[in-house]
Amino acid sequence: MFASAASIFSNPWNADVLSAAGKARQDGEKGWISRIVQTFQVGVWPWFGTSEDGMDDMMPWGRGTLTTRATEGEAGSSGGAGPEPGGSREVPFYHLPVLLAEVLEILQPAPGKLIFDGTLGGGGHTEALLQKGARVVAMDQDDEALRHASERLKGYADRFCALKGNFRDFPTVLGEAGVIGLDGMLIDIGVSSRHLDAAERGFSFNKDGPLDMRMDTSGPITAADIVNTYDQGALEQILWKYGEEPQARKIVKAILAERVKAPIKTTLQLADLISKVCPKYSKKHPATLTFQALRIETNQELAALEDFLAAAPKWLKPGGRLAVISFHSLEDRVVKHTLQHQSQVWLDRPEWPAPRPNPDCVYRLLSRKPLEATENELSLNPRARSARLRGVERLPQ
Ligand SMILES: C[S@@+](CC[C@H](N)C(=O)[O-])C[C@H]1O[C@@H](n2cnc3c(N)ncnc32)[C@H](O)[C@@H]1O
Repeated sequence: MFASAASIFSNPWNADVLSAAGKARQDGEKGWISRIVQTFQVGVWPWFGTSEDGMDDMMPWGRGTLTTRATEGEAGSSGGAGPEPGGSREVPFYHLPVLLAEVLEILQPAPGKLIFDGTLGGGGHTEALLQKGARVVAMDQDDEALRHASERLKGYADRFCALKGNFRDFPTVLGEAGVIGLDGMLIDIGVSSRHLDAAERGFSFNKDGPLDMRMDTSGPITAADIVNTYDQGALEQILWKYGEEPQARKIVKAILAERVKAPIKTTLQLADLISKVCPKYSKKHPATLTFQALRIETNQELAALEDFLAAAPKWLKPGGRLAVISFHSLEDRVVKHTLQHQSQVWLDRPEWPAPRPNPDCVYRLLSRKPLEATENELSLNPRARSARLRGVERLPQ
């Protein structure tokens, strides 16, 4: 799976696409593009055809159209698209990218580099990578995010591609797309602001909606299914493990008593029930940890993160970089332990006579401590408060 700098485009499949894309540009022929778009059910394809000369057309201030965002919430965003020379398309607010400057510092996007964004969301990080001239292959499991970002970034169609899927499956999805090596990888995990703001997605305990919480709305199980069908032990386990909720037992007892009367179907039904048995004793809503736990279970978030981290080293070229943004301590713990282990040259155990080389050592840590949002960023985007960014560089082998 390891790829040399040149090998992405020496792959025969890529060569086919390269020539097809070049021809399509010359002929205005779009048939092959729509065939591939249908395959991935997403409206943007692809950038493989971008040669170094072709890239000039797509440079940030060139003919490729950039997107400006209209809403007040995003005005002055660190991830804003900036002024647009070719006329702007207004796209409603979706999500403000966090730690944007820090992500760029780690990934060092530049023309010729191929970067994977496994959590496209509103497209803010991807847009900044594209503005620096990189090519981006992006994934998201949420159709709404894919639609939104594809529209926002359509001016970059020659070097941006959006694919539907869970980032835990990226090796299959990228393999099918013919990608065999990456200069950079980013995941900015968790939900987007859009998820929290849209009552109908069921993520918010402040807004009434169906108790859903699926990022991929075709996913097999909703939060309501968990709340109404899991047995007492399984529910307590989830609240302990994924919410670290000290009142897990009390909350689960209340859920069981309620659901025998009628199923718990909405976010406010559950939030009110929890408020009744766990009165508010801090600024946090009493349902915060339960909602976090249900979301993690519904979307299998930690398992997806572990799978992604295990597969990433095989896809990064030597010198390629990985950036991971997490939003709560459970995720950050997984990221920290995995990346630290994969960056440790020697292993030592008390029972060993001497340290041994670590067979899993594939990275160099870029910093021991995670990067956090500056005061300036927090004043613009309070949701960046809990974001932690960790970065590593792939060692040559
Ligand atoms: C915090 S937002 C990303 C925001 C994005 N970086 C931006 O600048 O707008 C997280 C996004 O990742 C997606 N997501 C979360 N977990 C995922 C997974 N395992 N696979 C694919 N997408 C995922 C969510 O649907 C959401 O759109």
